[in-house]
Amino acid sequence: MNEQRGVKILGWGQALPERVLTNQDLERMVETSDEWIVSRTGIRERRIAAAETAASDLAVVAAREALQRAEVAPAQIDLIIVATVTPDMAFPATACLVQSALAAGRAAAFDLEAGCSGFLYALATAREFIAGGTYDHVLVVGVDLLSKITDWQDRNTCVLFGDGAGAVVLGPAAPGQGILSTYLGCDGAGGELLCLPAGGSRQPLTPENLAAGRQYIHMNGPEVFKFAVRIMGEAAVKALERAGLELQDVTYLVPHQANLRIIDAAARRLKLPPERVLVNLDRYGNMSSASIPVALAEAADAGRFHPGDILVLVGFGAGLTWGAAAVRW
Ligand code: UT7
Repeated sequence: MNEQRGVKILGWGQALPERVLTNQDLERMVETSDEWIVSRTGIRERRIAAAETAASDLAVVAAREALQRAEVAPAQIDLIIVATVTPDMAFPATACLVQSALAAGRAAAFDLEAGCSGFLYALATAREFIAGGTYDHVLVVGVDLLSKITDWQDRNTCVLFGDGAGAVVLGPAAPGQGILSTYLGCDGAGGELLCLPAGGSRQPLTPENLAAGRQYIHMNGPEVFKFAVRIMGEAAVKALERAGLELQDVTYLVPHQANLRIIDAAARRLKLPPERVLVNLDRYGNMSSASIPVALAEAADAGRFHPGDILVLVGFGAGLTWGAAAVRW
């Protein structure tokens, strides 16, 4: 069998809505306080998309930036994967809308749904297509507009989420370069802990379901928290093991941005000091599939990564799902 090709990140991009919603704004909407939100989550503000903005709008902006940085033309993209739980509509897939907007005529396109782990699931999938030689250039987008499925009267959830998109363009590299390993997992028995009950075939959008608010995110925060604290460290270590790396090889942790206390626990497990952990949830809240690629793009734009740096990307989300990847920059 031929040796598999390496797969690396050729370009990155991000898109964030302009409107900022601060904790002080939320104090005027629900029974909460800046002090509670900051101390329990680390979040200070988040971005909220305009009423007319949909997932594909932000995805296209992030994708264009990533393509430009990669110096890859839309016509060279072989496949587009959009990870999202907030597609423009149930079908067609948001990836198809992105393909059309980019005029990426030869690209196949599909959406992938793995909750907040979506970007890592998409990255792992894209990597296989390139490593095996099926495709050369894959565009991976993580985009979520959780504000659109949030109950703005539920203080348990509405203080947590924000909107955004992040994208990467992947292409072939020498073996041992770029994405060194991936690790994905799922515990479907935990599905009810974090879900959007209505709008699918189980509970269609009937007047009764709408009246009961089942079209919004439902979450058992403390149970998801316990799972996340355990799985983030475990998944990161698994990805490192698969890459043949040790804890001391890690330059940066790029975690899903759900709660600073969850990120801190993962950092402790990896024995990493705060300056080696990328955090942006103070400014953006939890952007689901967009959290990791936006953190990655921001740090790359700021020149924080150097050739040879080892990044560990790790996330968790609805499903329950989790994923991690070790990347040599
Ligand atoms: O991408 C995956 C998405 N989800 C997550 O990552 C969520 C993971 N879970 C968490 O981050 C945390 O569980 C939360 C931040 C959601 C909640 O923090 P917690 O420390 O687990 O608090 P809690 O749910 O146990 O609630 C403690 C108290 C409760 O009051 P009582 O029952 O003790 O009187 C809540 O009603 O805090 C109350 N509370 C709030 N108070 C002020 C809950 N939300 C708020 C709020 N403002 N926004």
